[in-house]
Amino acid sequence: MFAKAILALAALAVTVKAVPTPEAVCSQGRRASSAACCVWFDVLDDIQENLFDGGECGEEVHESLRLTFHDAIGFSPKLFREGKFGGGGADGSIMAFSEIETNFHANNGVDEIVETQRPFAIAHGVSFGDFIQFAGAVGVSNCAGGPRLQFLAGRSNHSQPSPDLLVPEPSDPNDTIFARMGDAGFSPNEVVDLLISHTVAAQDHVDSTIPGTPFDSTPSSFDSQFFVETLLKGTLFPGNGSNVGEVQSPLGGEFRLFSDANIARDARTACEWQSFITDHASMVSKFEKVMAKLATLGQNPRALTDCSEVIPVPNSSKLPPPTLPAGKSLKDVEGACRATPFPAISAAPGPATTVAPVPPS
Ligand code: HEM
Ligand SMILES: *[C@@H]1O[C@H](CO)[C@@H](O)[C@H](O)[C@H]1NC(C)=O
Ligand SMILES: *[C@@H]1O[C@H](CO)[C@@H](O)[C@H](O)[C@H]1NC(C)=O
Ligand SMILES: *[C@@H]1O[C@H](CO)[C@@H](O)[C@H](O)[C@H]1NC(C)=O
Ligand SMILES: *[C@@H]1O[C@H](CO)[C@@H](O)[C@H](O)[C@H]1NC(C)=O
Repeated sequence: MFAKAILALAALAVTVKAVPTPEAVCSQGRRASSAACCVWFDVLDDIQENLFDGGECGEEVHESLRLTFHDAIGFSPKLFREGKFGGGGADGSIMAFSEIETNFHANNGVDEIVETQRPFAIAHGVSFGDFIQFAGAVGVSNCAGGPRLQFLAGRSNHSQPSPDLLVPEPSDPNDTIFARMGDAGFSPNEVVDLLISHTVAAQDHVDSTIPGTPFDSTPSSFDSQFFVETLLKGTLFPGNGSNVGEVQSPLGGEFRLFSDANIARDARTACEWQSFITDHASMVSKFEKVMAKLATLGQNPRALTDCSEVIPVPNSSKLPPPTLPAGKSLKDVEGACRATPFPAISAAPGPATTVAPVPPS
């Protein structure tokens, strides 16, 4: 008994001793939990200045966040079970094999951000898979009310091209999207959590006549307006009529994807969708959680180094409360959550307005 206790104590001492407390000092005296993280401070300085226009939440941030998804979702356990190559997930293959993957229909338009990002990754000697997830995490931290995403470093720079047809299309029925995302490990509610990203988003290619048309009226704020506005009755097409993957939106200058409209109203996901309207804290924490999963698809997180301390702490200043756009009332809401009524939010004063496009930079 006594000997056992001594042994246990000795084991404890060894464990305590083995826990590393190294603090690496990086450029400009910044501290990191591991020397392997130091390079990311230099990448941070470079991309904030030269990719994100001095720390904005603009077009490059939106495209970089989208790219985290289009690289990572190239991962299918179902294909592996069928004896085929199912993709390497968040492995940088969309950048290493851009001539193949950016030609996939669902990747329409991602070639621009891939080409813009690639020289930054090469200049800093970091892997493409790491860079893509890092850029997305830093980028979205620039958005007002944004999350602070986990960042793990150390993905291999070696990859193979992802198979085609793994990235969901906006014209896909809800069941097709839930099946594909389920294959990659996401429940229907986690698909909603991932779609929080569309609060800082615009389209360029579904209707290419109106590039920069956002999915909500506040595309540089990580707020819940997206969840309000997607539940309003659609009344108009913002551009040149109906396109594949598009449905009517409620506001001039605003774009609605067929897939967003359906998932907002699907009985399986309507309550998760509506819940974010009045709970920004939950919206942020669920996005942080689901993005940690997305960013390590096909990877072994335990083999990676946690460099999350490099990700900037987002501006936590209070966002304005969610509102119905001016000219709309609760009668225009197509609430679809059976368990909970749509929250009694008020309408912005003044006449109906249109939404301004996201300027290209
Ligand atoms: C569930 C399936 C999803 C579908 C069908 C979908 C579809 C789309 C489409 C069609 C666009 C417009 C692209 C263009 O025309 O330029 C878009 C934009 C965007 N998506 Fe998704 N998306 C999905 C999930 C996600 C996820 C999981 C993320 C990130 C975690 C994401 C982030 C974005 C962002 C940030 C943009 C805006 C890009 C920009 O403004 O340039 N999406 N999405
Ligand atoms: C990663 O691979 C690409 C080629 O796909 C290469 O250009 C780049 O220099 C490599 N980066 C590292 C860190 O090895
Ligand atoms: C708009 O749509 C019409 C018919 O739907 C088409 O003929 C026209 O070329 C389109 N305009 C542009 C700029 O794409
Ligand atoms: C898919 O979404 C549409 C529109 O929200 C809805 O009417 C339909 O019931 C959904 N499909 C299923 C299988 O729930
Ligand atoms: C935080 O956001 C508020 C409101 O958008 C802005 O006034 C303030 O300057 C921002 N602070 C920083 C440090 O960016």
